[in-house]
Amino acid sequence: MSPTTPISAPPPPSSLSVFREGIFDGKVLFCTGGGSGICKEMTAAVLTHGANAAIVGRNVERNIKSAEELSKRTGRTVIALQADVREPKQVQEAVRKTIEKFGRIDFVICGAAGNFLAPIGGLSENAFKTVLSIDTLGTYNTLKATLPYVRESKGSYIHVSATLHYRGTPLQAHVSAAKAGVDALSNVIAVEEGPRGVRSNVLAPGAIKGTEGMERLSARDDQGRRIDSAQHIPLQRMGETQDIGNTTIFLFSDAANYITGQVFVVDGGSMHTGVLG
Ligand code: HXC
Repeated sequence: MSPTTPISAPPPPSSLSVFREGIFDGKVLFCTGGGSGICKEMTAAVLTHGANAAIVGRNVERNIKSAEELSKRTGRTVIALQADVREPKQVQEAVRKTIEKFGRIDFVICGAAGNFLAPIGGLSENAFKTVLSIDTLGTYNTLKATLPYVRESKGSYIHVSATLHYRGTPLQAHVSAAKAGVDALSNVIAVEEGPRGVRSNVLAPGAIKGTEGMERLSARDDQGRRIDSAQHIPLQRMGETQDIGNTTIFLFSDAANYITGQVFVVDGGSMHTGVLG
C-alpha cells in the first residue's frame, strides 16, 4: 500500500490533554518567541498544566496582547518582556524581570527564530548572519542568561528546531545552518549540565497548520494557493499546534526525566518521505 493511499480518514488529535492537570503547579516557563506561532501554543500547553510564564520577544505590542490572551485562556500569570535575543544584555534583563516576578525558572523554550525563502546565491552576508544571529546566537544568549536559575531548579530546556537540515533543503541554507547549531547546543547542554540535573532536548516540528512558518514558507502552486501536503504525510494529516503542545508537556514532565540530548521530530513521519511541508 502506498503511503499516499489512506485507508480511512485520519483521526483528529484529541482535544483533551492526556496529561494530569496541575503537573506543573508552581513551575515557571521562560519562552523566547512565545508571543506568536508554535511557541505561543507550547506556552499555552505548559500554562494549562499549572505553570506561570514569561514570554519574550522583540514586538512588545504583540507580546502584551498574547500575554493577556494566554492568561485569560488558562487562568495563569503571564508576563510579556521585550528583548531581542541577539542582544545578551536584553536577554539578561528579561531573565532578571522574570526572577523578580516569579522567583524561579524551571523550563526554558528557546524558540525565537527568523526565516524567509532565498537561494544561497541570493543571500547577502547580512541575511545569512541575521538568521544565525537570531536562531543560534539567540539560543546561546538565552542559555547563558537562564542557566544559573535552571541549575537551581534542576529544570529543563526545549529548543525549537526544524527538519530542514537533516537533509539538504533548497532555499533554506541560512535556517539549516542555524538550526544545526541549535541542535548542537542542545546536545552540549545535555552533556555538560546532565550531572547537575538539567535536561535539554530538541523539538523539531513538521508542517503545522495555522502557523506563521506554514503561512509564509510552505509550497504554493503557480496561482499562489498553498499546496495541500497532507497526502504526502504518512499519518495523512497536517500537524496541529496541539501535537507540539503535547510533546512539550511530555518533555518537561517527569515522564521524560531520563530523556536528555534527544531530537523529537513531530511531523507525522514526513521526514522519511523526502517531501517536507
Ligand atoms: C533575501 C532577505 C529576505 C528575503 C530579509 N533579507 N528578507 N534576503 N530574501 N526574503 C535580508 C535583508 O535584505 C537584510 O540583508 C537581512 O536579511 C536582514 O534583514 P532585516 O529585515 O534588516 O532583519 P530583521 O529586521 O532583523 O528581520 C529578521 C528577518 C525577519 C529574519 C529577516 O524575517 C524576521 O524578523 N523574522 C521573524 C519572524 C519569523 O521569521 N518567523 C518565522 C519563523 S518560522 P541586507 O544585505 O539587505 O542588509 C521558522 C520555521 C523554520 O523559523 C522551519 C520552516 C519549515
